[in-house]
This record gives sequence, structure tokens and C-alpha cells, in this order.
Amino acid sequence: MLSRRHVVGAAAALPFLSASPLRPAFDEMPSLRAAAASRGLRYGCAAASYQLRDADFRGLLAREAALLVPEYEMKRSTLEPQRGNYDFSGAEVLLAFARMQGMAMRGHTLVWYASNPPWLEDAVRARRDERLFTDHIARVIGHFGKAVPSWDVVNEAIWPEHGRSDGLRRSFWLETFGPSYIDSAFHAARAAAPQAQLVYNDWGCEEGGARHDRFRSATLNFLEGAKARGVPIDALGMQGHLSAFAAGIDAKALGRFLAEVSGLGLAILITELDVDDSGGPAGVAPRDAAAADAAARFLDIVLDCPAVTGVLSWGLSDRYLEPPSWRQRLSGYSPRRLPFDRDLVAKPLNRALIHAFEGKPASAR
Ligand code: XIL
Repeated sequence: MLSRRHVVGAAAALPFLSASPLRPAFDEMPSLRAAAASRGLRYGCAAASYQLRDADFRGLLAREAALLVPEYEMKRSTLEPQRGNYDFSGAEVLLAFARMQGMAMRGHTLVWYASNPPWLEDAVRARRDERLFTDHIARVIGHFGKAVPSWDVVNEAIWPEHGRSDGLRRSFWLETFGPSYIDSAFHAARAAAPQAQLVYNDWGCEEGGARHDRFRSATLNFLEGAKARGVPIDALGMQGHLSAFAAGIDAKALGRFLAEVSGLGLAILITELDVDDSGGPAGVAPRDAAAADAAARFLDIVLDCPAVTGVLSWGLSDRYLEPPSWRQRLSGYSPRRLPFDRDLVAKPLNRALIHAFEGKPASAR
């Protein structure tokens, strides 16, 4: 429950939002949080603790998001830089902000092939002991308890292009333990958090084309097998990294995939939505328009699936996107992947999200 001090504190951060006459007053646009809630969904985004030092951004985040996921602070490279020495401080900063703003928190991610401390892979390959990840899962989930009701337990374990018949990614986890590491991770998470939502999170099922068809098939096979083995997976996290100028959305294939996943009794979360606007025209207006269109076409299909319970974008503003490559900088390109630009001004992508939440089909916009 928010205390009066918290509410006053948060409200004090907001007036600046209508301070500048040059920027559309945000109060003319419904917040993403409100638009999603009008459809019984939750909208949220990834954020990093250092971003909370930015009062303007903090105010926007408080207005827009009902859900928060740490971009870095719950990854093993941040939590356990030295073996056995855990540092939860960054995650606690985000958790305190989320509590103050009445936001829920997602945990990301417990077992991944990336963002691991330098000592881990050698230890795994040397010891081949599942406790190297099951103890981590128990320690992290145990630390946060019910403050984090939803976890990305295993992230990006599927990669059909590695050529395995099961479509799994050839990571050091798979090479050491075989496919069973995924089952063991979910069982360890369930043992640590009997009530939490346990999510398998990945990307590659969103867009059209043969590559994504293979990804959807491999993901469905994996989920069907896991459910048949009694693996405690509650939801599929579809990351939702879209491209404004690539294959586009195959509405039939995406709709069929979502129906088959929900037919397994799984909920579906869009966990990391953003739109790569590189590879098209140089102008901001056509890039913004194409990004908004890509998101609209994706969400039109996704939000028609009753199993979808929430949408998170992988950040809220372009202000904190990783800088472009030197080559992209030479061409004057700067990424515009998120709903608000670097000056925290709402973009067409923001309007596309709001219209999708409000049920306005892409054609009617
Ligand atoms: C990314 C961060 O955004 C980058 O800044 C970092 O360098 C690497 O990780 N899928 C995921 C996220 O599940 O954790 C990744 O986040 C993006 C791809």
C-alpha cells in the first residue's frame, strides 16, 4: 500500500511532464498503464537502477508502467560477480521504486547462456554439477520471495539454426548437462517458489518467414514435451523484438502458434517488445511510422489471444538505448525502438500501443 509520503513524493516528480509547451502534454494521451488496464492487461517495461537518478524519466516511468523488469540487476553477472558473493543492491533499488509506485516486479533471468559472471562457464564445464544453477535459483528466488511473483526461469534455450533435431541452442548449459538442464531449472524454481509464475522466455516466434516458422515449431515441440514430462512451466515469454523493415508479421502463422501455446494451458507474456528501425529510410518520420505499424500488426494478433496477460517493452524511452555502432553513427542513425524518444516525447509507437490496447485495429488508425 502506498504511504501518503510516497504518493506525495511520486506526484512531486510529475509536474515537469506538462512543464514544456514544446512537448505534447502527456496528460492528453492515456498512459500505457491505463490503456492496458482498460483491456484487463498489464503494461510494463525494463528499466535499470541508474535510470532512476533521472527525475524526468522516473516521473514518466511512474506514469506509464504497472510492471517493472530489471534490464541487468537480476542477471547472474550482476548478482554474483564473484562465486558465492551475491550483490542484490541494484535489484533492491528497482524493487523499492516499484513498491513506491504500486508496480509489480518480474524477475529476469535465472538461467541464460549470456550475462553470466566470468567464472561460471568454466565451473560448469569442470564440475558438471546441477547445483551450479539449482542453488543459484534457490538463492535468488529465496531472496526476493513473493516480491517477485513471476520469473523468467530459462532464457533463450532454443536455436534451430544450431541444427539439433530438438532445436535447442548449443550453450555451455546444454553441452554440459544435456536438455534436462531446462527441466531441472524449472523444478528447482518451483521448489523455491510454489506460487510464482514460471516463464520460459525466448524470441524468434514473432515474425513471418521460414526461419521464424522453424522457431515456432521448435518452441511448440519443446513446450509440448515439457508439459508432457510434468515440467512446471506456467507461461511462454515471447520477447517481441520486432523489425520495422524485415519480414513483417505472418498473421495466420502467429495466430495459430498463439492458439497452440494457449492450448497447452500456458499463459503468454510479451516480455521485451521493441522495434528495430534500422535498415530502412534515413528519415525519422518514416522510421517511426514503420515501427508503429510493425508493433500494431503484431499486437493486433497477440492481443486477440485470451492467454496473453501482459505486454512489457524492453525499455520505455530511446534515451537509454545502447549507442549505435560507429558505422551507424557515421550514417547519422540513432535507434528509435521504444515508445518515447530521447526527450521523453511520445512517438507513433506509443500511440500504436495505446490503440492496440484499446482494441483499435491497425487498419482503423
Ligand atoms: C540485453 C540488454 O538490453 C543489453 O544491454 C545487454 O548488453 C545484453 O542483454 N534478450 C534478453 C535480454 O532476454 O536480457 C537482453 O538484454 C536482450 C535480449
